[in-house]
Amino acid sequence: MAFTFKKQIFGFMDLLRFKKLVPNRRKMLAEGSAQPLPKSYAVNETARILHPGYQKATLAHIEQNTADTKTYTFEAERPFYFRAGQYVTLGCEVDGSVVSRPYAISSAPKAALERRVSLTVKKCGFFSGYLFDRAKAGDVFTLGDPSGEFCYEPVKDAKHIVAIAGGSGITPFYSMAQAIADGTIDCKLTIFYGADREEEVIFHQELDALAAGSDKIEVVYVLSEEQEAGYEHGFIGEQLLRKYVSGDFTAMLCGSDPMYAYLDKQLAPFALPPRRIKKEANCVGTRDVPPASYTLTVHVGFDTFAVPADARETILVAMERAGLRVPAKCRAGGCGFCHSKLVSGKFSLAGADKRRLADAKFGYLHPCCSYPDSDMELIVPKA
Ligand code: FES
Repeated sequence: MAFTFKKQIFGFMDLLRFKKLVPNRRKMLAEGSAQPLPKSYAVNETARILHPGYQKATLAHIEQNTADTKTYTFEAERPFYFRAGQYVTLGCEVDGSVVSRPYAISSAPKAALERRVSLTVKKCGFFSGYLFDRAKAGDVFTLGDPSGEFCYEPVKDAKHIVAIAGGSGITPFYSMAQAIADGTIDCKLTIFYGADREEEVIFHQELDALAAGSDKIEVVYVLSEEQEAGYEHGFIGEQLLRKYVSGDFTAMLCGSDPMYAYLDKQLAPFALPPRRIKKEANCVGTRDVPPASYTLTVHVGFDTFAVPADARETILVAMERAGLRVPAKCRAGGCGFCHSKLVSGKFSLAGADKRRLADAKFGYLHPCCSYPDSDMELIVPKA
């Protein structure tokens, strides 16, 4: 009975409130300022400056590090904010195709406040080969916003980062070491840097200088094909890790997929929780299947393109070859930037399915890590 009474009282009050809704609104509008609302707000302007999406960057300097590695320093249009370990997408037009690739940033986050950012590139693949052979100071490129989660996270990570780098995988760790040395981040960093031969070691002097100037940085060089004084010999495995590391740590791995498979086994005895083993994703390459040609019908905005595709290459590569401007960042299925709607056709994934469950359910795919298995029709967002 009491319950019914309460319900009636509240129902009556709601009715009164509802009756006053329109007069109250009119009164508030009448009392409001006659000034029109601002067209933009400071917070939005700041966000646009900090995260422009893309900006132009001029290649200012090229330095040869090893026989097949160079560091490219760019002058960006605006200050550039990133966390040590992140990557950027560098792009330009090459022979009529718009090409871009993600590269880990090798410079310090502090240098980017003065608009300088460096990328260290090993000569392999189409775009890296273009940079290596044809790029010169003064060339203008497109630089995407920094992306990626391959960073030290003070809340989630141990205070000690054990970084394991293979070859040019040293790049993000060089950035982290600089950030530790200049006080941008606060953690201990032990880098295990594996290379085949001494001549392939990048940033040797720079890393030694950083380690000499900070008790938080240590670098262990490991050569697999040579025995030299000052270097460990062999592969980076459990025994070597135990020789230099004790206590709690987070492992960060940057190298090839076979290196990751090997290290999975070597790290298993340390019983680290999965979140304490981070691996930088590698770009998806070609797949080893017999050649087959398909046609992709690609809708971008109001335009439709017929794109020839090869079963061995990803859908993203096919679209770029055809000169289409399509979005891409990580090229590894992780960022979702290339997320496109499948209208019809069949495809295969390169490796694990990294799409959200809803994307898979409602027919979205990531062209960067999908290979065509038939003619296909896709709706792709504009870059
Ligand atoms: S470019 Fe990152 S998911 Fe495709």
